[in-house]
Amino acid sequence: MTPRVVRAAPVLRGEVRVPSDKSIGHRALMAAAIADGESQVLLHRAGDDLRSTERCLSALESGEVLDCGNSGTTMRLLTGLLAGQGIPGVLDGDESLRRRPMERVAAPLRAMGADVRTTDGHAPLSIGRGALQATAHRPKEASAQVLGAICLAALGAEGETTVEMPAATRDHTERLLAWLGVPIRRDGLTTILVGPARPRAFAIDVPGDPSSAAAWIVAATLHPDADLTIVEACLNPTRLAFVDVLNRMGAQIELIENSTDGPEPTGSLRVTSAPRLDAVEIGGEEVAGLIDELPLLAVVMAAAEGISELRDAGELRVKESDRIGSVVENLARIGARVEERSSGWRVSRGTPRNADVTSYGDHRIAIAFAMAALSGVAGEVRIDDPGCASVSYPGFWEDLEALAGVPA
Ligand code: S3P
Repeated sequence: MTPRVVRAAPVLRGEVRVPSDKSIGHRALMAAAIADGESQVLLHRAGDDLRSTERCLSALESGEVLDCGNSGTTMRLLTGLLAGQGIPGVLDGDESLRRRPMERVAAPLRAMGADVRTTDGHAPLSIGRGALQATAHRPKEASAQVLGAICLAALGAEGETTVEMPAATRDHTERLLAWLGVPIRRDGLTTILVGPARPRAFAIDVPGDPSSAAAWIVAATLHPDADLTIVEACLNPTRLAFVDVLNRMGAQIELIENSTDGPEPTGSLRVTSAPRLDAVEIGGEEVAGLIDELPLLAVVMAAAEGISELRDAGELRVKESDRIGSVVENLARIGARVEERSSGWRVSRGTPRNADVTSYGDHRIAIAFAMAALSGVAGEVRIDDPGCASVSYPGFWEDLEALAGVPA
């Protein structure tokens, strides 16, 4: 792998359309696979994770092991889908995915009567045939993947399935299935689905991923001479908690919503340089809505006035990498002051310096630290594995060159 060097951009200006949202894309592909008729899912620059879902769905009848690659969402949602449809299968993934916890989906599906086996709580994971019953669930993790897996399984169960979450998570499963005629609703922290149900056939143009848009929003907020607009982005409020946090710190972000015929609100985000950024404290129920943006927010914390703190984010330890460890290590290398906690970190400004960044094959780490260098929060950085950005954001490095106006 050839490392990639990123340095501060002289200016950050222009307009960008980021690749289609991963969360909506996975759900749309899976709904299309079981819908009543032929559907059309339009994905712009689908990342590797969405390709993993496509690949698994095409291989369903082959009897082959379903390779979920690096994608936890593919593995967890597909387990629910297969259990609900009574389709047996074996699911596996790459080294990182094999380390991630799978009992969080296997256990609730078993409680519904599904035959789901894990390998010591991990992939490979096998699903056998089994009739499902509607069941009440109270998962202990605030996870949209767990919620989504249970809902997809519940499509094949007779009666009312309920899922009460400890904190609000992204609501794409509810929005999509409701739009497709499935009796599903969210009431406070509880989602209720009445099965059995089959989605209608549909056509969807999947809007841009707010978690990818967040990279440009952070870069422009931090850069002294920036004015960027992200167009055709998903503006679902359950995905925009990071905008609230950044605004709390002093960022200048404007949302321009266009109406939509689909299940999700879409529109543009315009962001200009923040005149000043103050420290922030993040913890409690807010964390679930920020989970994918926390590495980027850590970079903003490293540029703010005062000491910022993240608490209650132990879930970061079981993402594509241990994101508490990988963020803390790389922040220290770029010169920030940082302290690791079991479920978070404390960060304040230090002296920016040149650094080698180790991404641990984690797209969000590679992208966050590219933004640190591009905006001047770090000196020049060398990213060890730039290719991993394509897990969520194929074309990331090309967009970076185009927006920064110079080859990075
Ligand atoms: C996702 C949910 C989140 C998120 C992941 C996508 C989804 O994971 O980190 O990138 O599409 O449901 P958890 O549900 O494990 O928090």
